[in-house]
Amino acid sequence: MIDYDADFPQSARAFKDALKAVDALLFVTPEYNRSIPGGLKNAIDWASRPYGTNSFANKPSAVIGASPGAIGTAVAQQSLRSVLGFCNSPQMNAPEAYIHFTPGLINDAGEVTVASTETFLRHYMEAFHTFVARVVSTLPKDA
Ligand SMILES: Cc1cc2nc3c(=O)[nH]c(=O)nc-3n(C[C@H](O)[C@H](O)[C@H](O)COP(=O)(O)O)c2cc1C
Repeated sequence: MIDYDADFPQSARAFKDALKAVDALLFVTPEYNRSIPGGLKNAIDWASRPYGTNSFANKPSAVIGASPGAIGTAVAQQSLRSVLGFCNSPQMNAPEAYIHFTPGLINDAGEVTVASTETFLRHYMEAFHTFVARVVSTLPKDA
């Protein structure tokens, strides 16, 4: 990766521009072998470079995930939190959300069909909104 720092690819620059344009990042991840998918890790690694231009520094984030597995991406989320910590992204610590995905939980219109889960996720997003507002009002946007 360091070999590309001096001549960073256009696709990676575009990705970094997209990250710069938003106030916060909500990571929605599945769990692959008790960690995050390689594609997600690869994207984070690119955006953390070139050295000194880490796109995640001071960018508020939260992590959430859904899986058919009983632990609902809990281990993957902890792995991702470790990466984001190193990348100096202020993370929402609580609430956490480990969604056990069952068929029909989300319909074709993208609606959550279980009322208790819908309420839980609504509260999660309200908490994230409050967290983001607090971070962006106190921290500079760039590293
Ligand atoms: C390579 C691979 C590893 C997986 N490992 C886990 C796992 O560790 N824990 C889990 O709960 N589900 C695991 N799953 C099941 C995924 O959570 C499930 O397939 C999920 O729907 C994948 O979402 P995606 O198709 O958007 O990547 C794994 C799936 C794949 C393909």
